[in-house]
Amino acid sequence: MIVLEVENYQQMSEKAANIMFQYVAEGKKAVLGLATGGTPVKTYDLLVSRIQNEKTDLSHVHTVNLDEYIGLDEKHPQSYHHFMEEHLFQHVPIPKKQTHLPNGNAEDLNEECIHYEQIIESLGGVDIQLLGIGANGHIGFNEPGTPFDQKTHLVDLAPSTREANARFFASLDEVPKKAITMGIATIMNSKNILLLASGESKADALKQLIEGSVSEACPATVLQKHPSLTIIADEAALSSLSDEARSKINQSNVSC
Ligand code: PGA
Repeated sequence: MIVLEVENYQQMSEKAANIMFQYVAEGKKAVLGLATGGTPVKTYDLLVSRIQNEKTDLSHVHTVNLDEYIGLDEKHPQSYHHFMEEHLFQHVPIPKKQTHLPNGNAEDLNEECIHYEQIIESLGGVDIQLLGIGANGHIGFNEPGTPFDQKTHLVDLAPSTREANARFFASLDEVPKKAITMGIATIMNSKNILLLASGESKADALKQLIEGSVSEACPATVLQKHPSLTIIADEAALSSLSDEARSKINQSNVSC
């Protein structure tokens, strides 16, 4: 695990955009695992600017997103299909057929879960998976208690997740109750993981992830077992760390 501490959201986003850019600029096939939510918005903005300025060829880039709500039309402003169009896809030349999100409106949602895993497999797996972290320690929509061996599956969203996401909707009632998400086993299969965290609301979850014991009660703790995990977090998100964990990060900026 590498933990990079930065001062604020802007710096977190700059570092993350630089890392993501390296993957797409290499000119060879790259499979990006993408995330939605408030955290990666600036990362996408900066990535878009860089790609546009450098006229980067993205014909070899494929994307797979972590999750999608069930029952929201793809054109709904809060669907993750819409989010990705708005923040990334419409601004950069990734071939449309190479961008993938779970279909939350599939007739047979269980079949869709299997199909989504097949897409990831057929691409040869994810090269770098971008992740946020929920205040309750969720990754993707894998809520506390999710078995670590699950692949793409259907979930009932935790009340705290619906409340956290209500800020994007007109009211809490409008937040879907179900979603389809890559499972923890799917996420752990990614070759590299880049987790971003900003703000005090993430401090407890991040402390668990960095120094807690691995437990399904806090899904993000499974990432301790990933062979190539980089965390970029700002001071507020790291503010609950113990002195011991903090000194390890401060000594080398590379630790654990
Ligand atoms: P956020 O969500 O980026 O909107 O804080 C992160 C997450 O729930 O994974």
